[in-house]
Amino acid sequence: MRIYLLGFMGAGKSFWGKQLSQHFQAPFFDLDTYIIEQDGRSVNDIFTEEGEAYFRLLEKNALETLTEKYSELILATGGGTPCFHGNMDYMTANGKTVWLNPSIDVLIQRLEKEKDHRPLLKSLNNNQLKEFIEEKLNDRIKFYEKSLLQLNNDESLSVEVLIKMINHA
Ligand code: S3P
Repeated sequence: MRIYLLGFMGAGKSFWGKQLSQHFQAPFFDLDTYIIEQDGRSVNDIFTEEGEAYFRLLEKNALETLTEKYSELILATGGGTPCFHGNMDYMTANGKTVWLNPSIDVLIQRLEKEKDHRPLLKSLNNNQLKEFIEEKLNDRIKFYEKSLLQLNNDESLSVEVLIKMINHA
């Protein structure tokens, strides 16, 4: 089984992905980390030197490469992955899509501390960050909500519950 974890930056995709990987005995990948390893530059540098459109092509290629290579896979995608190049339909056709959707307040708390390595956030102050998250999430919901599973409140979420939900989905 392939499991694709989706959601906004800071949603906890890598955190849950690593735990699912242990349970399902399937390899875990973080799509950004894979892109960085392949390209040799940070996501920030790719955005600055090549622009976002180029990054989105690398992202699509990485998604397809990993999907073709592994029939068992837990993949933490980037926050924008489902929103470009038909990636959402591609993931739907190739595995189980799980949308991690914590509250905006939780996203803000996490992202205030981790803006710097994210090109879309690094120049924002904390007030701008809230506005950005609200707007971007609003634009992206139409992609995220195509997911097979939606998890809205990660404070009460446990790995056991997540596994049960995925197995029954
Ligand atoms: C992005 C999210 C990032 C990374 C890039 C763009 C986005 O991944 O792919 O900075 O468009 O939301 P994370 O969701 O892992 O931070």
